[in-house]
Amino acid sequence: MSQKTLPLSHSGMAALADTLPTPFHLYDEEAIRQQIRAFKEAFSWVPDFKNYYAVKACPNPAIIKIMAEEGFGADCSSYPELLLARDAGMRGEDIMFTSNDTPASEYVAAKELDAVINLDDITHIDFLNEVAGFPELISFRYNPGSGRTGNAIIGNPVEAKYGVREDQLIECYRKAQEKGATRFGLHTMVASNELEGSYIVETARMLFTKALEIHQNTGIIVEFVNLGGGIGIPYSLDQEAMDLEAVSRDIRALYERMIVPSALAGLNIVFECGRMVTGPFGYLVSRVLHVTSKYKEYVGLDASMANLMRPALYGAYHHITVVNKEEAVKDHVYDVTGSLCENNDKFAIDRTLPSIEEGDVVVIHDTGAHGHAMGFNYNSKLRSAEYLLKSDGEVQMIRRAETIDDLFATLKF
Ligand SMILES: Cc1ncc(COP(=O)(O)O)c(C=O)c1O
Repeated sequence: MSQKTLPLSHSGMAALADTLPTPFHLYDEEAIRQQIRAFKEAFSWVPDFKNYYAVKACPNPAIIKIMAEEGFGADCSSYPELLLARDAGMRGEDIMFTSNDTPASEYVAAKELDAVINLDDITHIDFLNEVAGFPELISFRYNPGSGRTGNAIIGNPVEAKYGVREDQLIECYRKAQEKGATRFGLHTMVASNELEGSYIVETARMLFTKALEIHQNTGIIVEFVNLGGGIGIPYSLDQEAMDLEAVSRDIRALYERMIVPSALAGLNIVFECGRMVTGPFGYLVSRVLHVTSKYKEYVGLDASMANLMRPALYGAYHHITVVNKEEAVKDHVYDVTGSLCENNDKFAIDRTLPSIEEGDVVVIHDTGAHGHAMGFNYNSKLRSAEYLLKSDGEVQMIRRAETIDDLFATLKF
């Protein structure tokens, strides 16, 4: 069982919603910092443990700066994400560039920043060499194909557009060596929003095995394995957060058996998690515009799937708290909707909640990753502001809300 609490008292949250235009996303800085420290602590036995925070999860400079201050790196998948990492003060091997179908200009930018480039395909070896020159340090994204089942969310690896095939992997390292690489990493990403710790342990086993195979076949010493992102969070009350200590203990046992006695002793382990770092510490704060009765009962918010797409996109559960009604009996069943002209613009379907009235403040939980970031402008909706509840209690705007001028800016040329 997980608990869903607000980062402020109910009256504090109501007062904030009275002061700031709703909807907005609010991120809890102190809770994010604590989570980062717990992650680092769990893996403190690893020679140079690092999580490259997946910038795509919450691409806001204030959030990326927290990562930099706490000693995390950045996992970037595009040029703007590289700029966000650079502007947060990250340099060189603080940045990992994992992209696919990559344009030349983005490889050039990643190379100029001395980021760790993680190639998605065997053909990208020549491509990178031609467009940017080959770096000393290179990594490959491994797709295990039928050797591994992806979890439910990420799907079957055989169907995935990502990564180097099993039978191409050794060849990739040989070719990279021919191009002049002298330092190597190995990466995979086979899970998304996974709560079962053994899945991550098996991913470590798989990469340790592959790194050893690469050494046996080529003599190459892989310096690090990147277990990818994908550690899940308990979106619903009946789920529990992954026990990072237990996962770390099991990975350590494998490491001591497989890696320590081998030529790869000293191998580093890194991750590129986004969701578990910031997800639980973000809140979409909105206000009820209308309560209506059709063939079902509806609560219409001033937020919509333009602010948070996960429920509409994946049918994802996001917990909902009605502010100042924590003691009220939950005896109403509602669909909680936004205003888009799409019937899947629903934050919740058949959700049991207290009786809701126009003007109530409704908080949608766990929006700190893949929340605002996935926003869009369909129906000419404007994306909301983002605020940071700072460790000292101040609430700081870290992104302003879009205006109509922003929306029309690209029509003026
Ligand atoms: C390559 C890669 N790394 C890391 C992540 C971050 O995943 P999560 O935020 O679930 O940890 C993603 C998510 O899409 C990804 O595609």
